[in-house]
Order: sequence, then C-alpha cells, then structure tokens
Amino acid sequence: MSSNPLEIDFAGLTFKNPFLLSSAPPTMDPRHILRAARLGWGGAVMKTVTEEPTVDPRTRLGVLRKDGKPIGMNNIELLSRESLKTWTDDWIPKIKKEAPEDFIFIASIMSGPEPEGWTALAEDMSQTGVNAIEINVSCPHGSPEKHMGAFIGQDPTLVERVTKAAKKGTDLPILVKLTPNVTDIVPIAEAAVKGGADALSAINTVESLIGIDIETATPLPIAYGVDKKEQLSTYGGFCGPAVKPLGLRFVSQIARALPDIPISGIGGIEDWTSAIEYLMVGARTLQICTAAMWHGFSIIKGLNEGLVKFMERKGYTTLDSIVGKALPKITTWTALSKLPPVVARVIDENCTGCKDCVVACADGGYVAIQMRDKVAVINDEKCDGCGLCYVVCRDDAIEFVHTN
Ligand SMILES: Cc1cc2nc3c(=O)[nH]c(=O)nc-3n(C[C@H](O)[C@H](O)[C@H](O)COP(=O)(O)O)c2cc1C
Repeated sequence: MSSNPLEIDFAGLTFKNPFLLSSAPPTMDPRHILRAARLGWGGAVMKTVTEEPTVDPRTRLGVLRKDGKPIGMNNIELLSRESLKTWTDDWIPKIKKEAPEDFIFIASIMSGPEPEGWTALAEDMSQTGVNAIEINVSCPHGSPEKHMGAFIGQDPTLVERVTKAAKKGTDLPILVKLTPNVTDIVPIAEAAVKGGADALSAINTVESLIGIDIETATPLPIAYGVDKKEQLSTYGGFCGPAVKPLGLRFVSQIARALPDIPISGIGGIEDWTSAIEYLMVGARTLQICTAAMWHGFSIIKGLNEGLVKFMERKGYTTLDSIVGKALPKITTWTALSKLPPVVARVIDENCTGCKDCVVACADGGYVAIQMRDKVAVINDEKCDGCGLCYVVCRDDAIEFVHTN
C-alpha cells in the first residue's frame, strides 16, 4: 500500500492526489497548466479543443453575489482559441516533457453528432502522450446551436454513439463529461457506459441567465451584437459554490445507479470540506474550475492539507475508504419516518439576540420562538422540527434534540 494517503486509482491511472483542474480558462495553455503542475495539482484536463479554434464574445463572465461576495459565476465562453495542431504538435509535448512525471494530463475533445470527428480527434490525441481523453458532450451554450456539446449530451443515443466513436480512435481511458441540463442523468450515464466509457465526469455548467442590469434592461454578462454596438447577451453556464448541491445530486445519482464506473466530481468544489462531500457521494477524483479562477492555483496546498488532516482526525487511511461513504444513507422520501421527535434548541452562548429566527419562525414556521433576556427561546410544544431557524441563523446557535 502507498504511504501517500491521497493517492487514488482512477480508470487505470494513479493520481497522487484527487485534485485536477477542470477543462476551462485555468487550462488554456502550457503556462497555466505547468504552473499548476509545479504547485502540486494531481492533474489537469486541457481546455476543450474541436476542429476549429474559438473566437469568443466579450465580456463573457457574469457573477451572482450575496452581500458583495461572489457565490456563483456564469460564462458564455466556448472552447480553446488555439488550434488542434498547436495543442498536438507543440503544447501537449511541452506539458508532458516539463510537468512532474506523476502529473496526470487529460485531453478534452469535442465534435458533432457524426462519429468520424470523434474518432479522428481521439486518434490525434493518442499520439501526443496524454494520459486519458475526456469527451465534452456537455457545454450548454454556443455548442448546442451547432449540434455539439449538450445537444449530444442530452440524447442517450448520441452519447453512446460518440463515446463508441472516440473509443475507436484510442486505447487510452475515455472520460465522458456529462451535462446537468437533463431531467434524469442516469440514462445518459448508462449510455456512455454502454458506449465504452472508462469513467464519467459530472457536472459541466448549468444553463442559466445570471441577471439583468435593471438600469438598462440588459441581460448579463453584457456582450455585443454583430454591429459591435448593440448590447446583448445569451444563456450561459452557471458554476461555482452555488452549484454544489446540483453536482452532489448528479454524482450521487450516477454512483448509486452505476457503482462500478469511476466518477470525477465537478461543481462548486472550493475547499477540502466540499471535496470530501463529493468523495462521500461517490467521486474518486475532483475537478475544480471556479475556485482556481477566483483564488489561484495555490489553493491546492489547503485542499491537500485539509483532506489529510480530516483523514487523520477521522481515522481514514485511504481515500478509497471515504469514496461513497454517504451513499447508503441516501434513501427515498417515502422511506423516511415522518415523526421523529426532534425539536430545535438554541445554544445560548452562541445566540447574539439578532431575532432572525424569531421573525422567520413567526411568518414561515410554527410561531415557536420568542426572545427572553436577549436570547431566543424555543417552545418545544410548538416547534415542528422543520429546521427553518437553523437556515436563517448566522451564529451557529441552533441544534436539534430528540424530545424522548
Ligand atoms: C469560463 C469557463 C469556461 C469553461 N470551458 C470549458 C471547456 O472548454 N470545456 C469543458 O468541458 N468545461 C468547461 N467549463 C466548465 C468547467 O470545466 C466545470 O465543469 C464547471 O465550471 C463546474 O466546475 P466549478 O464549479 O468548479 O467551476 C468552463 C467553465 C468556465 C467558468
């Protein structure tokens, strides 16, 4: 057994830690990728290439803020601006030569609904020394208009077809990157596995409209029409901390339906705790975009250290023993008991007397909280155990207790 607790096998590859940069601006060129590799990232997925380089609109990033702090981002950026040839002939050989040997480098490719393009791109990438190939059937903007990206990823027949086609062009492991913009991800995941996928990556961005500039009635992010003057926008892909609940849902649903397929978890991973959440719902590796864009590549230190300390504290000796740990506790609504005798209780020393819980419980709950001596007090008889006071409390002053 390895002495490195963060080492993990994934689709026949050994990662020194589970953290990869996902396919996005942080992996746009060798400068970015090599800097991350030297800082200790386990791997990276290059910015997706297709047959033609991309020309992007400007601006192309929008933000969702809460109290001034960004909690989500949306983008209308497409694929790599550099040609396939530059990647295959210059950039990938340079990355493979200069990155530490244990850095796992994954190509990302995209083509249309016909199989030939996928086979050709996979063949091209196979010659370069990459360790695996991720196929992008999940970009939610721009690509679907060209019958690419999520257009393919929303149709199980197409997903199976293009996965098979990519497999035909390579002996390398194929990861299929899935879109959350579907009603049920399981049939799509099953189609990818039927097509020969060695692993699945989930999720790509969530189709969204990030906001409106109400002064000018202009959707965000503001870009320009073909006359370069008219301010316009379009639907984009939402990512960052705010999408974590969706990522956890999709990854857990895939892991429960297809326990044998390795999953690379993506979506709002920003620190070691969110990383562990993804491992616990079945992800074996973890891809990060937004957190690296917002805070830089040096976050890898805190991710690795936090994960190791957690493992030591909890007695986990391998990442394998964390993977899927929470899955047996996900059940159906019907299987939940409706009457656990649970009520909320205020932790007096943490309560600051802000009254947020009193206001919420009065109008959104069961009128069970009152102020007494500048501290919130919960009436057990009235409390329904719904959890609203916990939702609005900013001071970690609510706990739940069994009444018998
Ligand atoms: C500006 C931007 C560009 C992206 N480009 C790609 C891409 O070329 N290929 C791809 O598979 N995903 C792309 N993504 C999606 C990310 O790889 C990732 O799936 C998504 O952002 C969710 O992860 P996060 O919450 O950590 O950002 C892009 C995301 C952003 C923000």
